[in-house]
Order: sequence, then structure tokens, then C-alpha cells
Amino acid sequence: METDFLKNNILAIIKKSNSVDSKLQAICDFLRQEIGYYDWVGFYFKNGDKDELKLAQFAGEPTEHIIIPFGKGICGQVAVSNQNFVVQDVQSHDNYISCGWKVKSEIVIPIFIDGKNIGQIDIDSHTVNPFSEQDELLLEFVCEQVSEIV
Ligand code: SME
Repeated sequence: METDFLKNNILAIIKKSNSVDSKLQAICDFLRQEIGYYDWVGFYFKNGDKDELKLAQFAGEPTEHIIIPFGKGICGQVAVSNQNFVVQDVQSHDNYISCGWKVKSEIVIPIFIDGKNIGQIDIDSHTVNPFSEQDELLLEFVCEQVSEIV
């Protein structure tokens, strides 16, 4: 993984003088385009006062999982655990919401503002066991940058 190249491009996207929505979309598109095993990249954010996540920008196939209750699926678990969740093989998890038979693995990293978990970046991959610590570090960087603009 070309971490410096990826981080520099994320910073360039963040610094552009366009809307937050455009930046989040550009991040999804960029990560999906550059990292071969990132087949779906999306942002979920807490939906107002409700204990649920709502899908925001994404790149990849449309999903029916626009709203995810806290505690449900990998995303909903991260909403309450406040921890990174790396699932190298989705078949080994019962509390998983399938987005299609092609998805084999998933990584979800929370976004914090002032220590409060306000959302997350979610990546689905069609490959089993694709993620390393480098993915977590890159995506933590992305989430830190996103927390500065949302
Ligand atoms: N698989 C997720 C649902 C969201 S999709 O990956 C887009 C989950 O288990 O929470």
C-alpha cells in the first residue's frame, strides 16, 4: 500500500474549496479506485437523535441498508463499541448484515468528534482476509481528517 500517496491525495480532497458532501464522495471514489480490494466504500453517520446509522456518500453497488440500528451488523456494533472492527471473513460472524454474496470481508473504523462517535467509514471487499494494520492506520487517518470537516 502506497500510504504516503494515499494520504496526500486524501489531504488534497479535504483542502479543496467544495462542499463537505463532494469531499466525502471524492474520498469514497478515490479509495475504491486506488485500492483493488476495496469494492465498496461508504460513510454512515448517526441519524440525528436516533440510535441508528444513516448511509451518506458511498462508492460501489447501491445497498438497501440505508438505515442500520445501533448494535446490528458490523456497522451497528461499531456505533456502540467505539472500536475498529476488522472482519477478515464475514462468514465467521453471526451479527453481520449481508450486502450481497460477493462480499467476503469488511472493515469499519469509527469517526470521533470531541471523543464522541459520530459515524464511520465502512469498506466491503470481495476478497477473504485482505486487510492489514496498514488499512486500519490509513482509514484512521481518513476518519481524523473527516472529523475536521463534518
Ligand atoms: N455489512 C454491514 C452492512 C452495511 S454494508 O456493508 C454496506 C454490516 O454488517 O453492518
